[in-house]
Amino acid sequence: MFHMGWFLTTGFGVYGWNQPWSGNVRSDVGRPDLFVDTATSLERAGFDYLMFEDSSVLPDVFRGSFESSVRGGQAVRFDPMPLMPLVAQATSRIGIVATAATTFYPPFLAARLYQTLDHLTDGRIGINLVTASPHAAAQNYGLEKHVEHDLRYEMADEWMQAVDALWGSWETGALQMDESTGVFADHTKIHHVDFEGGFYRTRGPLNTPPGPQGRPVICQAGGSPAGRNLGATHADTIISAVVGVDAMKAYRDDISERLLAVGRKPSDVKVLFLVAPILADTDAEAQEKRDRMRAAQAANIDGNLAAMSYFTSMDFSKFDLDAPLPDLSENNGHQSTMADFARSGKTLREIAANHRTIESIELCGTTETVAGQMAEAMEHAGGDGFLIASPVTRKNVAEIADGLAPVLRRKGLIRSGYDYAHFRDNLLAF
Ligand SMILES: Cc1cc2nc3c(=O)[nH]c(=O)nc-3n(C[C@H](O)[C@H](O)[C@H](O)COP(=O)(O)O)c2cc1C
Repeated sequence: MFHMGWFLTTGFGVYGWNQPWSGNVRSDVGRPDLFVDTATSLERAGFDYLMFEDSSVLPDVFRGSFESSVRGGQAVRFDPMPLMPLVAQATSRIGIVATAATTFYPPFLAARLYQTLDHLTDGRIGINLVTASPHAAAQNYGLEKHVEHDLRYEMADEWMQAVDALWGSWETGALQMDESTGVFADHTKIHHVDFEGGFYRTRGPLNTPPGPQGRPVICQAGGSPAGRNLGATHADTIISAVVGVDAMKAYRDDISERLLAVGRKPSDVKVLFLVAPILADTDAEAQEKRDRMRAAQAANIDGNLAAMSYFTSMDFSKFDLDAPLPDLSENNGHQSTMADFARSGKTLREIAANHRTIESIELCGTTETVAGQMAEAMEHAGGDGFLIASPVTRKNVAEIADGLAPVLRRKGLIRSGYDYAHFRDNLLAF
């Protein structure tokens, strides 16, 4: 069996505006309904979690303008945190992961926020641990510019230690709520943390009792060596968009080695790979649909350059479209992505034409065909499952939750129910 998650690629944002089958985007903007509908459908389908991307910048990198960010609504983001309890209220088992940038949340604020969310979700909250990359995001929080790539990860590691110390500031059994003795909480079991690191200091304890999970689920996505080490040290689930089954296998093996090196077991972390299945009633129809989608994407050079600029914080309008890209992997943004671009030896026009929604393998066909492709890829790669990264429209969600998932379940490939009440227990159940 493998695990399933859904990556909401633009967080609590706008999906499919002005596109066919996007539903009532106008009335959905800034409302919980689309996300509540998505969560209830995916819970019915047996998904482990929904992961909400987040960022706190309105990019003006591409051509120095906000136009490509807001024209189609792509860069609009509401704060995901207040949405989490609303999604939880409508569901009972699915995990809900909200992204927090370690660079911008002081450890005390994050520890208390996620502990409170763990209570509000009955033990189903998770953090997607990111360091964020754009200088503009750092400037929104008062920094002159963003911290250098590997130093960000060093800081994130210490941040996680401080947050863990705060989560541990109430011993198990501190919360008594015993009316007969008149003791709500036993003060002898609550301690200062007195955390003094190179970057962070916090006195503690939290003034919030431990949540049902004790420690919320930790998710991590960075693919550079520093990113992988952070994941291996702290995460319960790692998500990756490496391309091809061989790269997936190499990634899973590399994470297993890093886990062993820090004294953890490979089975302590579930590695999920990004996919965006293209489904139809026949394989031929699905392939036609894929070809149409790819052609439209390839023709949209400007849109693709804007997306690449957003991910990397580099203005791709400045490079010659018909020359190979220089090696930009030393940039402060997404190092692994930039290294892949340079290695390809392709011209910028070719890279932009092929730039697609990030996915590890192509899944295309009927629900039967795609289920078979997924089983085969997992068998080869030894990964733990998939994270769907299709745009969140009710049509896409129905195709997966009510089309693909029942076929996967009939084949015994995904769970048929949840054994536990809390997110981590279900994630680690197999
Ligand atoms: C599937 C996936 C989801 C991500 N989600 C976010 C996010 O929500 N917010 C964010 O700032 N970065 C996000 N990132 C970026 C990563 O946290 C990381 O900064 C990026 O992959 C570059 O890291 P690297 O240099 O270690 O490869 C995501 C990356 C991937 C692959």
